[in-house]
Amino acid sequence: MKIIKVLLMSACLLAQAAIADTDVQKAQKVKQGQELAFDRKKGNCLACHYVQGGTLMGTAGPPLVAMKARFPKREVLFDQVSDARIKNNKTIMPPFGSHEILSKQEIELVVTWLYTL
Ligand code: HEC
Repeated sequence: MKIIKVLLMSACLLAQAAIADTDVQKAQKVKQGQELAFDRKKGNCLACHYVQGGTLMGTAGPPLVAMKARFPKREVLFDQVSDARIKNNKTIMPPFGSHEILSKQEIELVVTWLYTL
């Protein structure tokens, strides 16, 4: 009986490890997300937003701070980056997803990075 329990527990732990990112993987995604956001040919988010650690930042958009508290739902933050017109059809923020400036995967990386701000 005991051995079955131990086996079941190890199987669960293995399954969890396969789904969840390790700390190293998470750190890599955050780094890639930041690179995309700061890249002037990709996100160029600094043209309009204050971001901790950024340089030559514009002020057309609000400062990107306390993201977790203000965007508890990941989908909402994803949509904001993918197509800011969903929330405000007169926004000057580029619809990065709809205009294919960033791929879905790239937006996911940017969102992962945003949650560290
Ligand atoms: C051309 C300027 C511009 C660029 C470039 C830009 N944004 Fe924005 N962003 C805005 C403006 C303006 C708003 C304010 C909301 C609105 O217009 O509806 C905004 C709002 C946001 C919000 C919501 C913030 C809040 O406090 O509600 C997030 C998140 C955001 N932008 C992320 C990004 C990211 C990430 C990038 C880069 C991939 C980016 N923005 C690039 C102009 C810009």
